Amino acid sequence: MVKSKTCVFISGQGSNLKNLIYRSRDKSFPIKISLVISNNKNANGITYAKKFKIPYLFINTKLKNYENKIIQCLKKNKISLICLAGYMKILSDRIVKIYNKKIINIHPSLLPKFKGLNTFEKVLKNKERKTGCTVHYVNSKLDDGNIIIKKAFYISSKDNISTLKQKTQKLEYKAYPEAIIKIFRRY
Ligand code: GAR
Repeated sequence: MVKSKTCVFISGQGSNLKNLIYRSRDKSFPIKISLVISNNKNANGITYAKKFKIPYLFINTKLKNYENKIIQCLKKNKISLICLAGYMKILSDRIVKIYNKKIINIHPSLLPKFKGLNTFEKVLKNKERKTGCTVHYVNSKLDDGNIIIKKAFYISSKDNISTLKQKTQKLEYKAYPEAIIKIFRRY
């Protein structure tokens, strides 16, 4: 099986990156993580890139030409899929256009509910019965684009921000690989 060369964009912890690296070592998994891009020099996720000898790039988004650097690097590494995994920056229209329908994102809510930041606070404040995560295609709007997969769980009265985060992330580790398998079934 020829695996699609994939770049994972991160900003922080990188637990989804780590999970995708492990899953992609499976022969039948359709992607290979060939590149990691971080907009945060100190992102813990970079340690996984180092550990698994995956090329990585730190991008300073304050620099004028940072987009060109990203595009050059994606092209150089022949990337055909981009997975955003806790990347806390909006991708420019230019990159979204070049990689049209080739960029996916994971978000810790049942989209279209609770786009943006502070998801768990919003979920609790709104007294939701259920929450979960969504994997979706990326377009130029925040946490928008066609949905590939959603996974949900019921919220208990004992839940707080930290337990919701834990439960949601546990679901994310199933949802992201499943979403990737699902999109490759379509090709
Ligand atoms: C994940 O829970 C992901 O859903 C969220 O950031 C976390 C990153 O965790 N993404 C967003 O909120 C994007 N809107 P990780 O770095 O441990 O994978």
